[in-house]
Amino acid sequence: MDERETKRSVPFTEGARVHALAALLPEGRQGLLRWPEETDSTSRLLRALAESGAPAGTAVLAERQTAGRGRLGRSFASPPGGLYLSCLLRPAAAPEALGALTARTAVAVRRAILRTSGLAPEIKWVNDLLMDGRKLCGILAEAVVRGGRAESVILGIGINAETRREDFPPELRDTAASLAEFLPAPPDRLALAAALLTALDDLARDCPADRGEYLAEYRAACVTLGKRVFLTDGTEGLAEGLGEDFSLRLRLPDGSLRQVRSGEASLHREP
Ligand code: BTN
Repeated sequence: MDERETKRSVPFTEGARVHALAALLPEGRQGLLRWPEETDSTSRLLRALAESGAPAGTAVLAERQTAGRGRLGRSFASPPGGLYLSCLLRPAAAPEALGALTARTAVAVRRAILRTSGLAPEIKWVNDLLMDGRKLCGILAEAVVRGGRAESVILGIGINAETRREDFPPELRDTAASLAEFLPAPPDRLALAAALLTALDDLARDCPADRGEYLAEYRAACVTLGKRVFLTDGTEGLAEGLGEDFSLRLRLPDGSLRQVRSGEASLHREP
């Protein structure tokens, strides 16, 4: 056991972790809680629970993942020290409304980080959180659509909380950031988990109606706006603004405008 482990805010057994987390959440909050030491993917485990009828608000966390899933079919490195959390929503919304949901999740996660650490990460469209230009958090929203409605949505969030640089795979060491780097004391992952679930509960309640607050906060924190960006298909353009649905308004070199609704807008040309 190293010194960092003896100081950690998160208890050592699943039962104690779940108990401590529940104590920080509102009494009567709906949903089951699981927090094993290790799983392949919290989102995969939560999907299985959702399919056997788990209610909205059910959340799965893990101390580490062996097969963390990222956007666009990528994997997500999930060493110890991170906060890996998936939460189940049953929004009864049309699938078209879900694009905005993934962007609003970035706002919800940012709020939780701000409340518990005072740090204000930037948002890189569409839902990466950055500190110092490096990736602090990734968000993956996965929906099960049946009969034209989103029957369930799993919001999967991975935050590098106190992940040590050497615990990241070598290729991520210069591009990943951890909350601990910016704080005088290790972040309280338990408090962060509770703040995160509370912010996601608020999001689920506010969704699909948008009172405009999420969009305003998103715009203010979005590092992509005003920058030259590169889409995965090689398109380059100037990110001029955001639509009401959080789509990115891109000015192309020929002067035309493109409204980008999904995918990735990198701030650097990928090699
Ligand atoms: C990305 O940046 O590509 C999205 C990463 C999402 C990672 C989180 S960690 C918790 C949840 N479980 C997973 O397997 N993935 C998400």
